[in-house]
Amino acid sequence: MNGGNNSSDPARFRSTRKNRRYKRVYQEYRNKHRPRVFKIATLALVVMLGVLAVVITPTRHSATPKSPTAALELSAPIAIEDLKNYKLVALTFDDGPDPNTIALLDVLKKEKVVATFFVLGARVDRYSEIVEREYREGHQVASHTTNHKDLTKLSSAARQAEITSTAAAIERVTGAKPTVMRPPYGAWNAGVLNEAGTPLILWSIDPKDWEYRDPDRIYQHVMANVRDGSIILLHDVYGTSVETAAKIIPALKEQGYILVTVDRLIMTRGGSFEAGNQYRHLYP
Ligand code: NI
Repeated sequence: MNGGNNSSDPARFRSTRKNRRYKRVYQEYRNKHRPRVFKIATLALVVMLGVLAVVITPTRHSATPKSPTAALELSAPIAIEDLKNYKLVALTFDDGPDPNTIALLDVLKKEKVVATFFVLGARVDRYSEIVEREYREGHQVASHTTNHKDLTKLSSAARQAEITSTAAAIERVTGAKPTVMRPPYGAWNAGVLNEAGTPLILWSIDPKDWEYRDPDRIYQHVMANVRDGSIILLHDVYGTSVETAAKIIPALKEQGYILVTVDRLIMTRGGSFEAGNQYRHLYP
C-alpha cells in the first residue's frame, strides 16, 4: 500500500518483523541469563577441579612404593600413636571373595569400619571387582593360599606354589603384595612358617560360623570372648556370618572397641612383619 518493495510483500514484512522480535527476545534472554551462565561456568570449573583432585590423589598414592603401611594409612582415620589409647579388635573374614562379600562390604561401609579379608587365590580373578572394592574401601586383603589345602601335607614346592600364586593374584588386582598369610585350617609347621615369606595370622576367637549358621549363637560366642587385641575369625561366604557381623560391629563399638585391620593391629602393638612370626592375637 505504501509502495515500497519490501513492505509490499506481506510475507516478507511479517518475516522481518518476526526476526526483529526474535532478536529482541533473544537479547533480553541473554542479558537476563548472562550472570547465571557465568555462575554455571564457575560452578562447572570448581566441580572439574574437584574431580581432577580426586582423580589425581589415588594416582599419586599408587605411584609411591608399596609398603605394609601404604594402603592402611589411606584408610586410617586414627594415627597409630593415637590407636594405642584404645581397645582394638580385628575382624577377619576367610575363604572369599564371594557374592556374599558384597553385602558385608555394604555393612562395613555403613558402620565405617575396616576388616581383613583372607582371600583364596583361586577366587581372586573370578571376583576381582569384589577384591578391588575391598582394597579401595580401606580393608586389608591378605592371603589364605590358592586352593585351601592343608599346607603341612604338601611338598615344599607345592606349598610355595599355593603361597606365591595367591600373592601374585592379589597384587594383580590391588597393586600391593599381601603382608600376612593365614594357613587353611590354621595348620602350620616349621616348613610353612619358613616358606610363607610373611607372618602367619591365626585367631583367638573362633565361633565356628561355618558349622553353626546361627547369628545369635555366633554373636554370643564372639561377645563373650572378645578382649583388647582379639583376632576374630569369620567367613564372608555365608549369609549368616554377614548377618552376624552386622550385629557384632555396633556391639563392639558400644563397648569402646576400635576395629582395625590385622596390619594396624600388629603395628600398634609393636609386632613385626618379619617372616617367621605368627600371631593368634595382639593383646597389650
Ligand atoms: Ni579357610
